[in-house]
Amino acid sequence: MTSKENKKTKFSLKTLIKMMKGYKRYLLISAISLILAALIWFAIPYVSSIAVDYVIGENEEVLPSIVKSIIESIGGREFLLSHFYLLPLCLVLFTLLNGLFVFLRGRNIAIAAEGMAKNMRDALYEHLLLVPYDYHKHISTGDIIQRCTSDVDTVRRFILNQLLEVLRPITMVIITGYIMFSYNVKMAVISIALLPILTISSYFYFKYVRKYFAYSDEAEGKLSAVLQENLTGVRVVRAFAQQKNELKKFTEANKDYKDKTYKLIKMLAFYWGSSDVLGYTQILLTLVFGVYFAVTSDFTVGGIMLFTSYTAALTWPVRQLGRVLADMGKATVSLSRLDDIFNHPTEVEPGKALKPEIRGNIEFKDVCFAYDDGENVLENISFSAKQGQTIAILGSTGSGKTSLVHLLQRLYPVTRGTITIDGENINDIEMHHLRKNIGIVLQEPFLFSRTIMENIRITNPDAPEEAVYEAAKIASVHDVICEFEKGYDTLVGERGVTLSGGQKQRIAIARMLLQNAPILILDDSLSAVDTETDLAIREALNKRKGSATTFIISHRITTLCNADKILVLEDGKLVQQGTHEELIKQEGLYKRIAQIQDMLETELMEGSEE
Ligand code: UTP
Ligand code: MG
Repeated sequence: MTSKENKKTKFSLKTLIKMMKGYKRYLLISAISLILAALIWFAIPYVSSIAVDYVIGENEEVLPSIVKSIIESIGGREFLLSHFYLLPLCLVLFTLLNGLFVFLRGRNIAIAAEGMAKNMRDALYEHLLLVPYDYHKHISTGDIIQRCTSDVDTVRRFILNQLLEVLRPITMVIITGYIMFSYNVKMAVISIALLPILTISSYFYFKYVRKYFAYSDEAEGKLSAVLQENLTGVRVVRAFAQQKNELKKFTEANKDYKDKTYKLIKMLAFYWGSSDVLGYTQILLTLVFGVYFAVTSDFTVGGIMLFTSYTAALTWPVRQLGRVLADMGKATVSLSRLDDIFNHPTEVEPGKALKPEIRGNIEFKDVCFAYDDGENVLENISFSAKQGQTIAILGSTGSGKTSLVHLLQRLYPVTRGTITIDGENINDIEMHHLRKNIGIVLQEPFLFSRTIMENIRITNPDAPEEAVYEAAKIASVHDVICEFEKGYDTLVGERGVTLSGGQKQRIAIARMLLQNAPILILDDSLSAVDTETDLAIREALNKRKGSATTFIISHRITTLCNADKILVLEDGKLVQQGTHEELIKQEGLYKRIAQIQDMLETELMEGSEE
């Protein structure tokens, strides 16, 4: 094991302990029950051997002094012989008690395992909601889903079936060791001769097999990722007739998973097989030497019964130790995969976490920004927006428009420069407060598989229905929704496939309006609606918007031309800024685009007139 792996295992233990919160009591009861059940289990062969050697065989030497004094206090051998039913009764009682403790063990560990798995899923989900936005862009959803389900389940199963199982062989070794050695040292040594080999081999096996569990898990993660991506991108796959290629990718990932799991199972099967042989050889040794000593010396028949039962009883838990360790390997891998998520830091407040009243005066000062360690996608951006102004952003694709507005929401930290709102650096404004005060319609709006009403209300769950209708009217989508059979209660399909692109955009606009934020951002949000609706929405927005500062990103000059300020971006640089009237007079990108769009429009008009 490398030191890195060691570190991971250590962390995993910490996670496991954290997850025990509220369930330590159940684990303790389960552990005590397990030990008691193991103790009682050992009494059963012991009572049988007393019955054979002492009561029937009249051999007093086999009795330890404590047992002897107990028997004598109730009337000695004669009493037991005349009340022989007491022995089977004793066995029945022990069996019942054993059953009770096995039940208690199972019940309590099940409560603990399920509870801890729940704790783990809750903690994971909470953490995933708190990690930076950037994290989600870099991970595969399928992989995360696999970690939150399959890996949590591996840990759950480990807690349920294995966690306490380490106690069983330890208890057993102590008790049997004591009884066997006090009974007959020579036979005791023979009876446990092969067990250290079994334990050591299981330990090394565990160390060896651990990485194969990880391979299998990773392959499963990749398989889920391919599946998830294909199901999400089903329209792309169909549209480009890529079924064959995608099927090939899936088949490869599937085969890889099968191969790796098969290899693992083959190794497990080899282990079980060979350790079986070793276990049975141990029992055979005990039996053969027991019979030999019984014939050649004073070893008793009850002794043979006792030693073979104990050896058999001991062999399986010791071998089981191998399984526990192996499963521990698998659980440790799963835990460290969960730790990968937990160890990713959550979003932090870099500044004072203030909660000022936000009015909407915004200033960008020499802002530079780069994703990760890449090249700058925004360079020395400086502009200001006054409360209530409309700021339009124009620029070719990839010029940094979306990045610019994402910076305002502090989804990413700026690399250089400052952004202030009402004079306060956004780094000093508490994250949730900042985001609550900025309404945004994302470039690719996402609708949840919930009703339209719920989708709109996401930004303001307590908003009255009238407010929702009002917002939908401004977004020109109210009438469309009313035409649906179930109106606002219509369920939006997975990712809103039942709605058109324009309808989705307008629902997202309604959602933003319901938030009543002093800063609004529309990231290319009118691209999928026709020019007339675009105009209607903007007019309605203007009427309603009051004092909100609004950013509109668009490629359409008609959408932008009424803005108080237009920012023109080119390759991350702010090349022009001003009103339509100012910019149209300057030589530059704005004028060129305006001319092209104007020309196209004229051609279209002429075409339709002809
Ligand atoms: P933007 O996403 O800001 O461009 O990406 P844009 O102006 O809004 O483009 P359109 O009009 O919506 O298409 C700016 C640059 O940042 C990179 C992109 O590759 C692009 O070159 N980028 C974007 C990243 O490196 N990582 C991201 O997560 C997003
Ligand atoms: Mg964009």
